[in-house]
Amino acid sequence: MKSYKITLLPGDGIGPEITNVTHNILDLISNKFDFKLNFKEMPFGGSAIESDGIPFPNKTLQECKNSDAVLLAAIGDPKYDQLPREKRPETGLLKLRSSLDLFANIRPVKIIPSLTKASSLKEEYVNKVDLVVVRELTSGIYFGEPKGRIKTESGVRAFNTMTYTSEEVKRIAEIAFKLAQQRNQKVCSVDKANVLDVSQLWREETILVSNNFKGIDLTHQYVDNAAMQLVRNPSQFDVILTSNLFGDILSDIAAMLTGSIGMLPSASLTKDGPGVFEPVHGSAPDIAGKDIANPIAMILSAAMMLKIAFNEIDAGNFLENAINELLTEGYRTPDLMSSGKGKQVGCKQMGELLVEKLK
Ligand code: NAD
Ligand code: IPM
Ligand code: MN
Repeated sequence: MKSYKITLLPGDGIGPEITNVTHNILDLISNKFDFKLNFKEMPFGGSAIESDGIPFPNKTLQECKNSDAVLLAAIGDPKYDQLPREKRPETGLLKLRSSLDLFANIRPVKIIPSLTKASSLKEEYVNKVDLVVVRELTSGIYFGEPKGRIKTESGVRAFNTMTYTSEEVKRIAEIAFKLAQQRNQKVCSVDKANVLDVSQLWREETILVSNNFKGIDLTHQYVDNAAMQLVRNPSQFDVILTSNLFGDILSDIAAMLTGSIGMLPSASLTKDGPGVFEPVHGSAPDIAGKDIANPIAMILSAAMMLKIAFNEIDAGNFLENAINELLTEGYRTPDLMSSGKGKQVGCKQMGELLVEKLK
């Protein structure tokens, strides 16, 4: 029997709640489709600060490296906001991404027809949306040097550096073009080339890569316009290729096309080696512990893991279809309730309903 090793990182806030639900569902799916999943839960984020004093202990890194895939819920809590940056949960997440060289973050935004009313845009603007944000994840302003804070005569100065090398742009652009080949043959590269040198290089390299993908239609948008276009006419997009910071912002905007940030999964991938499968949302401290979080973004991330990391395509599709059916039947966590319509359920109950459907 095929068997896969998963490092499970429940993290903080709603993380443990959505992880429990996802874990149960994966157990059931693996039985049904005849493969074995071996889970190992490890401390990460704020919970690791509590247990080990740091957000990303070396033992967690080693487990991640030795697994077939990593499934992450979310990290972060306001109570760590005053810690020095290297001790904060978010720094642990950035270290995970850089240690595993997860340069390609794939964030699909697909509309589930029964949810079009839950979107904050009118139905006719969202019902045809099917796009993917390809976000560069291990460089750009998140990692650029120099960065820091210094005291000057006129006060404190803080700075970060937005940097890309041509190789870094090339490798993420190739991922976007290859993805477009399997989809609707369009790449829109988003930058700020009218102002930033780093974006000028981004644009030049993207055009060079496009020469090797003749059938793909490459367009460019400035990031301010792209943000506007995402709410003006989101169905114009197929693959959006963009840098670390712009991708972070644009994918949260795009989440609302689907009805809730609680619906958006992602895969963070490298060339060879384990990927990290993680919802786009954070630890949602405002609703943690209330059993009202939407677990679907994490479950859909698990479906991406089944398909991309394990090539268990049927199992992944089966899981996605079951979620669609449940939503079509009207079950919704509070974030998806539109004008009081739907059968409201909690996080746990959504999981139980899904388990019944999968049996
Ligand atoms: P957030 O995504 O956690 O929450 C934003 C809003 O969306 C909140 O109102 C929250 O209740 C809601 N929300 C998010 N996920 C939801 C879900 N599954 N179901 C229902 N509602 C959901 O973003 P934030 O509030 O800006 O950040 C909170 C913490 O999470 C911060 O510490 C931040 O750094 C961290 N964060 C972590 C990740 C990650 O682990 N990948 C991603 C984003 C933010
Ligand atoms: C995300 C998050 C992270 C990011 C934070 C928590 C470091 O917002 O995964 O989108 O900015 O990449
Ligand atoms: Mn984000």
